[in-house]
Amino acid sequence: MSAAPSIFPGYSMGRIDDEIVNPTLYQSEAIHDIYARVRREDPVRWTAPNGFRPFWAVTKHADILEVEKNHQIFVNRLRTYLSPIQGEEWVKSVTGDTHLFRTLVDLDDPVHMKLRGLTQSWFMPPNLKKLEGRIAEIAKDHVDRMAALGSECDFVKEVALWYPLRVIMMILGVPPEDERFMLKMTQEIFGPGDPDVAAQTQHKADTAAFGAQGEGAVDLMQTAMKLFEYFGAITIDRRKSPKDDVASVIANGVIDGQPIGEREAMSYYIIIATAGHDTTSSTAAGGLLQLLKNPEQMAKLKANMSLVPNFVEESIRWVTPVKHFMRTAMQDTKLRDKTIKEGDGLCMFYWSGNRDEDAFEEPFKFKVDRNVTKHVAFGYGVHLCLGMHLARMEMKALYNELLPRLKSIELNGTPKNTLANFVSGLKTLPVRYRMA
Ligand code: HEM
Repeated sequence: MSAAPSIFPGYSMGRIDDEIVNPTLYQSEAIHDIYARVRREDPVRWTAPNGFRPFWAVTKHADILEVEKNHQIFVNRLRTYLSPIQGEEWVKSVTGDTHLFRTLVDLDDPVHMKLRGLTQSWFMPPNLKKLEGRIAEIAKDHVDRMAALGSECDFVKEVALWYPLRVIMMILGVPPEDERFMLKMTQEIFGPGDPDVAAQTQHKADTAAFGAQGEGAVDLMQTAMKLFEYFGAITIDRRKSPKDDVASVIANGVIDGQPIGEREAMSYYIIIATAGHDTTSSTAAGGLLQLLKNPEQMAKLKANMSLVPNFVEESIRWVTPVKHFMRTAMQDTKLRDKTIKEGDGLCMFYWSGNRDEDAFEEPFKFKVDRNVTKHVAFGYGVHLCLGMHLARMEMKALYNELLPRLKSIELNGTPKNTLANFVSGLKTLPVRYRMA
């Protein structure tokens, strides 16, 4: 399909298209200017960034729901994330298909639902209720740690990164001493081109193989191999002696009378280990930053702690740590005023959907008392985030512990986001505070 001429005055077609995938604009959050224009002027936009296979950019809340709802027309298995052509070819050369992993988000029904069904009950409210006390303790440990640090810390590096990691590793069954390793692996997967992440890795890519980064970025194949090795050992252990943890459910998972495949099992551990904390830590830190920037909102929340659930939901809407997922059309169809052809890719820009003026009143205002009932940060439909109840529970536990103990808190430096267009959020949030 050929690209349509630009409708944006002052922007050439190529420029908008390149910007919508440009990690630098996600880091600076200037991407919202691009999203707003696309939403206003061409909300389902045929987009052809340099070096990428073209796709439809889906930027409106209602259209994102429409794509998610029609999972038989818009499938996951062919294209899940934005990746340059060179990266896609590299993945094909190593795995023989379009994915490095075969996680739940890379699969379609019926296999997706069967795999999801293996662990689903672990992440549903009745089971989480049993973990509430333990999660509150972990939240307290991390707030205690902040208090013990005195009057200054980097909230991301000292609290937000470690707290959800501890929770998900406890659920998965990974011992605390391996958390640092798991954090590093997650950061490599979600931010292989981020200079701070790449600086910490022992294995750098020598080509622009993956994501929108190039030489000097993390070599994701080696990251994958390390994770496979790590979880391979866990599988052997849990098959021998199953425990009451999610790793045991995965290791011993059976579908249609057959044990699940090795690649499926590895991918399952990896999605739970990775999706389960970076997202929540970005949200925890991003919510705090908004309270610091809007002291009247902080005061309102501290004065009325029954607003914590609203604040949590507003933080998730605001941060939208998962910036996009992709689908591929299996038949010709319509979306808004556009004809989507069989085989076309579609990219759902969740962050744009969550700032859509037609879905939210004053979407660019952070309001702790907003009644957010319908954001798309967790997606929608059959792939709706498996960990959403857990993420909410973790956020509530953290802020129920933290807010009453904070006598004062202010920014103590410049916050900085990661350089990534897929899963992203704050990587540093320096704060000065007094705590009880
Ligand atoms: C604020 C935190 C989180 C956000 C914003 C988030 C966001 C998302 C999004 C957007 C999707 C894709 C949904 C779709 O395609 O419709 C997803 C899927 C998923 N998330 Fe989360 N997530 C969060 C926390 C978690 C946690 C704590 C876990 C822990 C288990 C988790 C595990 C998963 C899994 C396994 C999937 C794949 C589900 C499927 O394809 O069936 N997520 N998440």
